[in-house]
Amino acid sequence: MRMHKTLIAALCLVFAWPLGAARQPLRARHGMVVAMEAIAADVGRRKGFDADPSQVFVTVGGKGVMLYAILGLVDPGDEVIVPDPGYPIYESLTRFVGATPVPIPIRMEHEFRLDVDELASLITPRTSVLFINSPANPTGGVLTRTDLEQIAELAIRHDLWIVADEIYGRILYDGAEHVSIASLPGMAERTIVLDGFSKTFAMTGWRLGYAVVPPSLVQVYGQLIINTISCAPTFAQVGAVEALNGPQDDVDAMVVEFKARRDLLVAGLNKIPGVTCATPVGAFYAFPSIAGTGLQGAELAERLLHEAGVCVLAGTAFGGVGTDHIRISYANSRENLTEALRRIDRFVAGLGHG
Ligand SMILES: Cc1ncc(COP(=O)(O)O)c(C=O)c1O
Repeated sequence: MRMHKTLIAALCLVFAWPLGAARQPLRARHGMVVAMEAIAADVGRRKGFDADPSQVFVTVGGKGVMLYAILGLVDPGDEVIVPDPGYPIYESLTRFVGATPVPIPIRMEHEFRLDVDELASLITPRTSVLFINSPANPTGGVLTRTDLEQIAELAIRHDLWIVADEIYGRILYDGAEHVSIASLPGMAERTIVLDGFSKTFAMTGWRLGYAVVPPSLVQVYGQLIINTISCAPTFAQVGAVEALNGPQDDVDAMVVEFKARRDLLVAGLNKIPGVTCATPVGAFYAFPSIAGTGLQGAELAERLLHEAGVCVLAGTAFGGVGTDHIRISYANSRENLTEALRRIDRFVAGLGHG
């Protein structure tokens, strides 16, 4: 597995980091010990694999995890497979380091799960990293255990790193199971797990995410964090420890409420002529096809904003496969969602296509 060799060499030279750093006693060098321990315990409980607290890196937002993963693992000229539609930062950061993003289509007809055969066909000798995101933004799709087992098999066969974005891992409906790919045999050593506090605990503005990295990456990750942020703000980390170790009923209640909003939104969208919405299995987004309205997602999003006062995103904000889709976040009140549905319905009726 390749890494960003120039960068790592430069960092090692400048800081003369001892080679045994990964196994040094735990210090508050890239997170508060108490936060790293609380996260490692939570990972063991919920993600089904054991991580030493020294493998946990508290970052500024889940986005920080993506930045360090790409800086640490991707060389210019590499290919990085990213979901399309998918969280746009994967693609953008890949380009930023001079590598090539290779989109894996995520289609509504396939329950917004990637097709493993199609994935296999995209892997080349230049592929270094595969990003997966389950439950997914923007589709709400969730990879099954079988999907993940097949992806793991490909990763091992082709010697790939996986960045597993599990930031919506606790926002699941209808009994869906969250499986961390790092819990599958042979995968913890080639997976960076991304998670954080923005979604599960609605702590978006606290800017706290975390990575769980294999022991082989602890040194590199530590150097990148020390040379950029030093550490995430300590008072926010104290809040995160409370969030993880305290009662979880608020999280459960929030997921119940999200489900009610999802059901309201999906039912309402499917009543609008020209709109077809699959039921999301996780996260808090719907990704309806609006092909039957006669408009593409970009124009519909723009016009809904200016002519109906409803803010949605064009599917193309997440990749080319989303041309005929819009993304709607249902992290909003049922009252506002009901009003948004009324306005979308009226706007689409005015187009006269449905
Ligand atoms: C899939 C996904 N990953 C990561 C993030 C980053 O979250 P944050 O940086 O707020 O922790 C988001 C935020 O929207 C997301 O949707």
